[in-house]
Amino acid sequence: MKNILITGGAGFIGSNFIRYLLKKEPNVQIVNLDILAYAGSLENLKNLPDVERHTFVQGDICDADLVNKLMQEHKIDTIVHFAAESHVDRSILGPAPFVQTNVFGTLTLLEAAKQAWGQERSGHFHHISTDEVFGSLALDEPDFTESTPYDPRSPYSASKASSDHLVRSYFHTYALPVTVTNCSNNYGPYQFPEKLIPLMILNATQGKPLPIYGDGLQIRDWLHVEDHCEAIYLVLKGGKMGETYNVGGGNQPTNLDLVNWICSILDSIHPAAIPYSSLISYVRDRPGHDRRYAVDSSKIKAELDWAPRHSLEEGLLDTVKWYLDNMDWVETILKEKDYQAWLDKNYEERGKK
Ligand code: NAD
Ligand code: TYD
Repeated sequence: MKNILITGGAGFIGSNFIRYLLKKEPNVQIVNLDILAYAGSLENLKNLPDVERHTFVQGDICDADLVNKLMQEHKIDTIVHFAAESHVDRSILGPAPFVQTNVFGTLTLLEAAKQAWGQERSGHFHHISTDEVFGSLALDEPDFTESTPYDPRSPYSASKASSDHLVRSYFHTYALPVTVTNCSNNYGPYQFPEKLIPLMILNATQGKPLPIYGDGLQIRDWLHVEDHCEAIYLVLKGGKMGETYNVGGGNQPTNLDLVNWICSILDSIHPAAIPYSSLISYVRDRPGHDRRYAVDSSKIKAELDWAPRHSLEEGLLDTVKWYLDNMDWVETILKEKDYQAWLDKNYEERGKK
């Protein structure tokens, strides 16, 4: 691992991973290919440690000429592929870009890697995926393992499932050295405020309603983004080619409990005239809303000695504080990205339940 192509490195997890890797590996050179779609911003890449080892290229992973050129010019030996359309609600309102970026974009990168790494297949292609490909669990069903059959239920998860299959097919068909991680819901600094946790923090601080979809009893398996970064790093260093590793936080509150938790943190460190939980508002449910995700991480624990370092209690407190301390970042991002148009589209139509 010397010259790494990171795709989607201006987004939430990618930018956290670049920060993590620059600190961890003193000799790697990073090329960051990102189109700067709505969730990607150079604001996420300010104050990088050792910034001269990071080269930013604005471009599309679907652009085969560009990807081939970067592979050659920078002698890329490792690809860490984050770039994606990543939001379920957006995939419901407009699925086509999900197929284009998540499926066709992944195929473009696989082809470029196959071509660049020749017959001896000297490189490493690591694909970042999600636990959502496994579908929805009932309360009494066991956690997702690496052998749980795929059962995606949203256009987002269907596109990610498709990309996972393509990645594995390149291992079996062309002997391309690949690994895959399927991770649960991440939270932490630099997450675009369309996802549950930053949206709730932001709405609460602005005194706006906190929109809970359906009954709010859905369950996600929350993981701090730094713990995800460490899992990816361990797979890059010691993962077995062709293998998949599930990565989960082991924290499974209901959405309603989580939002109440955020409210009580805000009550104590940023009090308002009324308790923040009084802003909770039930809205129409997401179509096809997956009920529960839960990930069995025992394989990556046993093989690569990974375990999450952040408890949800401490991680959530730090995240709320990070957003409160970085309102300049929030404001710049929201101005840059026409955030209000998204809120109007997604929430006005949802209205009250
Ligand atoms: P994000 O939406 O914050 O960032 C995605 C990045 O990809 C953005 O910077 C965007 O500009 C870039 N991008 C989009 N289309 C592109 C294209 N065609 N070419 C180049 N760049 C493009 O997403 P995230 O939350 O950081 O997720 C990163 C990856 O992790 C995704 O593959 C996602 O499926 C996966 N994942 C996310 C979570 C989560 O909870 N956020 C959990 C598990 C897995
Ligand atoms: P989200 O952060 O969009 O992640 P994902 O759909 O990938 O799990 O949503 C997390 C959970 O929160 C999910 O069950 C949907 C729910 N949710 C709300 O109840 N209200 C909201 O405004 C949002 C964005 C999500």
